[in-house]
This record gives sequence, structure tokens and C-alpha cells, in this order.
Amino acid sequence: MAVRYDGKVAVVTGAGGGLGKAYALMFASRGAKVVVNDLGGSATGDGNNSRAADAVVDEIKRGGGQAVANYDSVEFGDKIIQTAIDAFGRVDILINNAGILRDISFSKMTDKDWDLIMLVHLKGSFSCTKAAWPYMQKQQYGRIINTASAAGLYGSFGQTNYAAAKLGLLGFTRALALEGAKRNIKANCIAPLAGTRMTQTVMPQEIVDALKPEFVAPLVGFLCHDSCEDSGQMFEVGAGWIAKLRWQRTEGAFFNAGFSPDDVKSQWGTISDFTRVQYPETTQDSMVAVMSRLDEMKSGKAAPAPKAAAAPQA
Ligand code: NAI
Repeated sequence: MAVRYDGKVAVVTGAGGGLGKAYALMFASRGAKVVVNDLGGSATGDGNNSRAADAVVDEIKRGGGQAVANYDSVEFGDKIIQTAIDAFGRVDILINNAGILRDISFSKMTDKDWDLIMLVHLKGSFSCTKAAWPYMQKQQYGRIINTASAAGLYGSFGQTNYAAAKLGLLGFTRALALEGAKRNIKANCIAPLAGTRMTQTVMPQEIVDALKPEFVAPLVGFLCHDSCEDSGQMFEVGAGWIAKLRWQRTEGAFFNAGFSPDDVKSQWGTISDFTRVQYPETTQDSMVAVMSRLDEMKSGKAAPAPKAAAAPQA
């Protein structure tokens, strides 16, 4: 059966252009009623304009779909979700997509560069999710997508603010997924790559043209469908390629109480050895090694604590 959203209401933030527009058109073409939110400001977060959202709403309506515009900043998530409630009576899908850049090397970064990025990406995603959450809880249905970035997953020169906010959204997603599980609210995170206003300053035009936002939308579409069971997951997507990401860690090295930086130095090869690895999926998984170590210590299997060694002289 085709993936459709009949009877569902989707809110897409920052849907006046780029990726958000592609999502809004995709949801509408498959039966969803869509709230097209866009502040319509510049790529660095200045100004506002209703034209971007209006143009997408017009395009959806011309294609026979249903959509309404909202021009609020994502900081005011309650107003955006209220638009969905007023126009369509519910909210089933929330795509936290709106974003800006304030790229600058860390030594030159101002408080404003930091705060604006946190406000739009982190606080904006919080605010819209917070407003949609009670409706999703009540109807025992919700699908949320948060938008991270390779810049957050891997780091990016000149983007300490953006990288911090984007990786923050992964933690937000994973915790939301846990809290939503009982009420059938699923949250996932994507790191897209697409040619948009945001990337045209850093990519050659032919790459911008080739990396179509339409190549990202199908993943968002499937993740928001009833048939998708995934929640709390992280995906990289672009140019018709989609992959899932997970944590990997080394088996690590164990030390007896009283161990020193010299001991850590001597075991650095083992600590960093990725030939034998683990894939922790939960906080509980992540604590297994530490807890088993504590048990060994309690039962006396681990070697007793040596007397604290004095720091060696330089
Ligand atoms: P874009 O600049 O084309 O679209 C972002 C939209 O968000 C704009 O239409 C803008 O007006 C709107 N917006 C900005 N601040 C807003 C606010 N406070 N309230 C409401 N709307 C606001 O950029 P693009 O590329 O489509 O980005 C979409 C998302 O994907 C962003 O979160 C971005 O950080 C993320 N992303 C994009 C990548 C890419 O390769 N294009 C790479 C990694 C992440």
C-alpha cells in the first residue's frame, strides 16, 4: 500500500523554501493537511516576510492539496501549533526544520551569534514540540523529526554554535523518543545534505543544483508514516542516499583503584583499540561496563586499591 497521510495534519517549520518546502509538498501530495510555517527572514536570521510561506501554500492548493500559512518564529511554537488546531483541529506530524547560520571562527564569535543559533535550532525545536506534545499524548499518536547536521555529528570549522545546537538535537530526540514511547509518539533525527539557500554559499552551483531537497523528503515521509517502527534514531541523507547512524565504542581498559595518569598512558592503545567494539543503544547499555566493574570491586575480584602513588617528579 502506498505511503499516505490521509486525515493527518503535518506542521513543517521553515517550509517557505529549501528542505521544508520539499517536505510540505510531499506531505500535501499524499493526503496530509499541512501548516506551512516560515518567518521569511534572511539566512542569518534577520527580518521577516510572509511571502515565502504564502507561495508554498498557493502551490499546494494549486495541486489540489490543503494547507495554511503561519509566519511566526519557531521560538513561539504555541502560535504555530495553534494555527494547526484552528485550521484543522489536530497535529499528528511535526517537522522541526527551520534554521539559520551564523558562521564565524570561534575566536570572533559573539554572544549574539551563539544565542541566535541556540534560539532558532534548539529552543525553536523545543518550543514547537512542547506545544504539539499534549495533543500527541492525548491522541496517542505523534511523529516528530528533528534536524541535526553533519556539522554537529563530526564538527565543522567556523560552526561551533551550529554544531553544538545540531548535536543537541540528537540528545533531545533520543530522550523524547523514550518519553513518547508509551503513547505512540515517535521522534527521529536526520542530518540532511541538500542544495538550498543555506548551502549555496559554501558549495559550487552545480552541486547545489544536483543535491535536490526532493532527495531528502522521502526519508522524512517514511519516518512519519504509521508503518515506521523506528524511534530515537539518527539518519544521514542526501542525493538519494540514506543511512542509519549508531554509537560505537571500544571495549575499553580496566584499572585498579588508585591508578594514575601513567597507567592511563600505558593502556592508551587498548582504550583506543577499535578492533573489538560494542554498540551501546541505551544509557543502561552504556553503564554495563561500569556496573560490572563495581560488582567486581565489591566481590573483591578486582585487585585491591594500592596506596595512592605520589606524582612522579618531572
Ligand atoms: P533554508 O535556508 O533554505 O531553509 C530554512 C528556512 O527556515 C527558511 O525558509 C527560513 O526563512 C526559515 N526560518 C529561519 N528561521 C526561522 C524561524 N525562526 N522561524 C521560522 N522559520 C525560520 O535552509 P535548508 O537547507 O532548507 O535547511 C533546513 C534545515 O536543514 C535547517 O535546520 C538546516 O540547519 C538543516 N540542514 C541543512 C543542510 C543542507 O545541506 N541544506 C545540512 C544540514 C542541516
